[in-house]
Amino acid sequence: MNHSEILLLRHRIELADSLAKHPEWAQCLGFVPTMGALHQGHLALAERAARENKAVVVSVFVNPTQFNNPQDLALYPHTLDQDIKLLATLLPLGTPIWVYAPNAEDLYDQTVVARNFDFQGVDAVFEGADRPGHFNGVGTVVSLLWKAVPAQRVYFGEKDYQQLCVVQALKRMENHDLEIVPCPIVRESNGLAMSSRNERLTTAQRERAAWIYQTLQEVARQGSASAPNRLRPDELRNLVAKKAQEAPDFQIAYFDIVEEGGVNRVDHWSAGARYRALIAVEFHGVRLIDNIAL
Ligand code: PAF
Repeated sequence: MNHSEILLLRHRIELADSLAKHPEWAQCLGFVPTMGALHQGHLALAERAARENKAVVVSVFVNPTQFNNPQDLALYPHTLDQDIKLLATLLPLGTPIWVYAPNAEDLYDQTVVARNFDFQGVDAVFEGADRPGHFNGVGTVVSLLWKAVPAQRVYFGEKDYQQLCVVQALKRMENHDLEIVPCPIVRESNGLAMSSRNERLTTAQRERAAWIYQTLQEVARQGSASAPNRLRPDELRNLVAKKAQEAPDFQIAYFDIVEEGGVNRVDHWSAGARYRALIAVEFHGVRLIDNIAL
């Protein structure tokens, strides 16, 4: 097989048959699940996967069961040709990269519905509270993808921090023998976290959306353990509420401080613990999320 180009696979069975021809990859396969509309953030995941594995599968599948808002699903961009071109820029690394882009029936086996998971509350707050059913959809598709792609390492971006917590829970619940590799957020030059949703903003709005990261940086400055007059979590919440009053084009869906590794919000600092600030905003009809380690 020639690995100088990206191999596109449309069916689960085709993927399984093709992988069976490469037993040498069996213990060192990397996987990057995506919904396509790839940007530099996805590319960073795929690049890391290509450097750490013998071969990489990138899935491109816009998962209908994780959209609670039909308009959001309808607006989601489908750019497979462009996605493949972008991934091909990694081929000089020498690692074969395959794209698995199934349709819903192939991946779900006819019935395209979400399962009901008990994620022990991890899905009940923040994104889960604002987007009912979203994490059941994510859990369902990730579980199906993990079965279709027998990888040892799976790469997820830290921008979707709560999603990372959910997939860690899924791994424990279903005993998947794989390593989840969290990867740092990739940002545009003004600090805006890369997201396929940024495409829905005008150039001027994209510039203005840097406000989100600037706010998080201020939170990190004032809330980090090394800050001379460290603010308490409730003071940080007030700080963000005040900043939002001065920026009425941003509607805060939530802002909070959680203990690193989970979604438990905190009211005071404990020695030795690590924290993360999470934010979601509605900005000109687009929901944008971001987070920062304190
Ligand atoms: O983060 C995403 O792009 C999606 O939620 C995922 C993990 C590919 C599942 O559809």
